[in-house]
Amino acid sequence: MTKILDFTKEINIEEMKEAADAIRNGELVIFPTETVYGIGADATNSKAVDEIFVQKGRANDNPLIVHISDFDNLDNIIEKPSLIEQRLMDAFMPGPFTLILKKKSIIPNNVSANLDTVGIRMPDNIIAHDLIKLSKCPIAAPSANLSGKPSGTRVCDIFNEFNNKVSYIIDGGETKVGVESTVVKVIDDIPTILRPGAITPEDIINVVGTCKISDNIFKKATGVVESPGMKYKHYAPNTECLLVYSNDINKLEDLVKENSNKDTIIIGCNELKNKFRDIEYLSYGNFNDYEEISHNIFRLLREVDKHNKKKVVIMGVKKEGLGIAIMNRLIRSASYNYIER
Ligand code: TXA
Ligand code: MG
Repeated sequence: MTKILDFTKEINIEEMKEAADAIRNGELVIFPTETVYGIGADATNSKAVDEIFVQKGRANDNPLIVHISDFDNLDNIIEKPSLIEQRLMDAFMPGPFTLILKKKSIIPNNVSANLDTVGIRMPDNIIAHDLIKLSKCPIAAPSANLSGKPSGTRVCDIFNEFNNKVSYIIDGGETKVGVESTVVKVIDDIPTILRPGAITPEDIINVVGTCKISDNIFKKATGVVESPGMKYKHYAPNTECLLVYSNDINKLEDLVKENSNKDTIIIGCNELKNKFRDIEYLSYGNFNDYEEISHNIFRLLREVDKHNKKKVVIMGVKKEGLGIAIMNRLIRSASYNYIER
């Protein structure tokens, strides 16, 4: 039986301790972070970690991120970071940021999918912080969604996927950022973004003066890649998806008009809603309001399937700042079905 802990108004510390004990006992707990919900297990317990892969239906060559609550004991799990790595950690932890570092053997090989590195992240969310702290172990956690589905940003969206498959689900309300953390690996002294998120290339340049973005952000990766997650189908509704974008809002309207009809549903900006009065329309926020859009996008991708339409047409955003992360997710949701004008 899965026990739901409702911490949307306040944290109940006794219940939090129960959930932390479950982690220590090798059980699974779903918890909120500032990005998306995670499905967590003791990162030093390979059997517990195996169970995450089973319950998510996740490919075992796709490594998990290890979550910490503070920098204490970090040297038990990773080798000493380089100067640049340390500066990135000081600047962006806690926060929506994951740094790939050399792991020590206490982290079992299934966490890292047999790589010699591990992603380390310190969530900026009090529930996540307290859970990790009380469980007294690092927590391995991928996003809480069945593999291939949009990441969970509210408990009601993922309850059916994980009911009776985990010991606890901690409800902390809607997550703030809405897209997963920026994943960075320092390669030849240059921070390289493997997955874009709310920590942007500009943020990284401001700290260490340089930043690269992996070539695979907007295209389909195959074979050996820097980050195995790049290879897999992601964030996809069951409904067929088309992503369209233009910097010019009038051209964007035309593009959507050309590609939609009564059998279509649209996910798009507030400004154009009234232009599509006879087509179902889900608003994600104002045109290019990246924070609002990233907060809403996974919830809306999940909502699409409830409308039983043949196709969803999604308005993209400009590929800048947090918009890079939104487009990275949407291009994958649409299986690279993308028109730009
Ligand atoms: O915001 C987040 O990062 C959320 C919350 C729960 O913390 N977690 C999350 O985990 O998104 P997941 O497993 O859905 O995505 C982890 C990504 C995958 O694309 C994976 O391939 C990559 O990080 N990754 C993990 N470890 C890696 C490593 N050692 N080297 C390269 N990429 C790695
Ligand atoms: Mg995920």
